[in-house]
Amino acid sequence: MTEVAGRLDIARRLIGEPRSAPPTPALLLDLPRARRNVAGMAARMAGLPAALRPHAKIHKSPVLAQLQLDAGAIGITTANVWEASALVDAGLGEILVANQVVGPIKAAELARAAAIGRVIVAVDDAGNVDEIAAAARAAGSVVDLLVEIDVGLHRAGVRGVDAAVRLAAHIATREGVRLVGLLGYEGHCMLEPDRAVRIEKAREANAILIAAADAFDAAGHSTSIVAAGGFGTWDITGANPRVTEIHAGSYIFTDAFHTALMPGFEVALTVLSTVISRSGTTAVLDCGRKSIGFDRANPTVMGGHGNVRYEHGEYFIHEEHVVLDVAEDAPLRVGDTVELSPGYAPTTVNHYDIYWVIEDDVIVDVWPILGRYGAATAGVGPPPA
Ligand SMILES: Cc1ncc(COP(=O)(O)O)c(C=O)c1O
Repeated sequence: MTEVAGRLDIARRLIGEPRSAPPTPALLLDLPRARRNVAGMAARMAGLPAALRPHAKIHKSPVLAQLQLDAGAIGITTANVWEASALVDAGLGEILVANQVVGPIKAAELARAAAIGRVIVAVDDAGNVDEIAAAARAAGSVVDLLVEIDVGLHRAGVRGVDAAVRLAAHIATREGVRLVGLLGYEGHCMLEPDRAVRIEKAREANAILIAAADAFDAAGHSTSIVAAGGFGTWDITGANPRVTEIHAGSYIFTDAFHTALMPGFEVALTVLSTVISRSGTTAVLDCGRKSIGFDRANPTVMGGHGNVRYEHGEYFIHEEHVVLDVAEDAPLRVGDTVELSPGYAPTTVNHYDIYWVIEDDVIVDVWPILGRYGAATAGVGPPPA
């Protein structure tokens, strides 16, 4: 039995216990809420020209990815090759890595996965194209490529339409890879709180992507995929008739950051923690920087149990402690449990091995969080149905 499978078996002994039962800090997945978020986004996207290929970096779970596919998603997106290969090994047929995969071991893993399912990956460098093509030829597979173009985020992506066309021409000369279109992620728009400004910025970003798609069409390069979008822009970018698919992902759980930005979805992911100290208006929880993501926003305390203390210009969150301001007469005692909505879900999930799956406030299952173990997890596969 693998180490992961052994741990799952131990955790499964708590199935049937209340949601407050796991040893803390623990990651709780409220499945009915996640299902409603998935159905809600599928229904909203159905009215738009673009399809949905949800980003799985948020959950890293083949079961949740399958839920999204069952709701009509055209495939799954990941942020790295390990997430992709974990999902392909779990039987999900088509994965798009919306990121660069660089280095011989990771290129070989990409090529291995492409021999099992369809794998699509973003590139912005001719040498990287050659590396992936060589790995694919060695594995006897074909890796599909998207040219990533910078649309204003100034992260990865070729700079400018001409550079995109040059890279497309290079790809056309290589065996083992096949050009299938473009990616232009407008990540700089996601953080924009003013909706009108966000719309304007996203449209400007989309225009750069579309100009590249027009140039690909004129040069005879494939534009079967023209991909963009995230949770903050799904309805703006997804309304563009030239964009074929949107890579929103955070909608499945939402978090403190996204609740403010994109209302209408339910908090489906919480960190269960225990009060380990209480004095006056101070309650101390046993979660912290090593168990809850708070980049971009402060965690929200669920159930009205106070707020995370803000002191000396920062939130009082240490590695293994979160300090809450609570009312003097608040009933919280040492040993009580409190749930927090993470500030940012993806960096929270990455701390954990398992989800405690909750329905009607009871633990109904335990699911592994895959793709964070690197090559060591290859072959672990999905949990039993
Ligand atoms: C390339 C890419 N696509 C899409 C997303 C969308 O994710 P979210 O749903 O969290 O906005 C991200 C998030 O970082 C991303 O990096």
